[in-house]
Amino acid sequence: MESLDDAGVYKLTDELAIIQTVDFFTPVVNDPYTFGQIAAANALSDVYAMGGKPLTAMNIVCFPVESLDISVLKAILRGGSDKMMEAKVILVGGHSVDDTELKYGLSVTGTVHPKRLVTNAGAKAGDKLILTKPLGTGIINTAVKRGAVAEKAVARVIKCMATLNDKASELMQAVGVHACTDITGFGFLGHITQLAQNSQVGININVAAIPLFPEVTKFARRGLCPSGLGRNRDFYSLSVKIASKIPGYLSDILFDPQTSGGLLISLAPRKAERLLGRLRQAGIEDAAIIGEVVSGPEGVITVS
Ligand code: CO
Ligand code: CO
Ligand code: CO
Repeated sequence: MESLDDAGVYKLTDELAIIQTVDFFTPVVNDPYTFGQIAAANALSDVYAMGGKPLTAMNIVCFPVESLDISVLKAILRGGSDKMMEAKVILVGGHSVDDTELKYGLSVTGTVHPKRLVTNAGAKAGDKLILTKPLGTGIINTAVKRGAVAEKAVARVIKCMATLNDKASELMQAVGVHACTDITGFGFLGHITQLAQNSQVGININVAAIPLFPEVTKFARRGLCPSGLGRNRDFYSLSVKIASKIPGYLSDILFDPQTSGGLLISLAPRKAERLLGRLRQAGIEDAAIIGEVVSGPEGVITVS
């Protein structure tokens, strides 16, 4: 068994490998049905990041039976199962535990041809990097809890978090790529660092090219940061060099833990424009080329 990203891969035969992932968390939005959808999209994402096809899933539920109405649980599971249906994934069961804090997620099983497995360890010097979703979900969800976000902006972020990475995954497999990861809890710079370290390359990021939710800079300037953001910065800032001209609120966004974030794809430069065009054509309009892979220093991310 190999542990890649937060998923396990088991090669069964020369033609078939199994990808097994699990992801679950506390609610990121108020509406239980929407939370169910987002948790499912997030749990499926690791399979898509590895170029796989998810087949089955099992629910994992921690639920405070004493303090929450069972209708909340039903709505969450309905959201999860609708998202699974969209992904053509069969829900085969699940397990629930009485707990003081509500948590929901899924264990997902998918398949991939071993030769077509995409990991976060294959980036090559000269590659371009494409990011498929905007950054800022952690900061905006924090602002939502304070009631600081306009309805339209909330709807946009929710739609993005609930969007599957399936199309982006299919398109990257069609073009052929060197490496991929999905941007989730460790934030943009955390997952990029892992990709650089595992690929033994350096990475240069062009901060102006990174897609952001339009409202996120406003809230980051006000310091509306989730607690995970500071942890990510503490953990990953040693591997990251951020140009002094970049304001603190902008680097905050780069460490912001993401929920159901986009794919970060590393591929040959001649293929990058082609994939970008196809992503945008498929409605993934925020996709952008945000940096490039260099030979060294290994494991170091330079942001300018
Ligand atoms: Co994951
Ligand atoms: Co992941
Ligand atoms: Co059980």
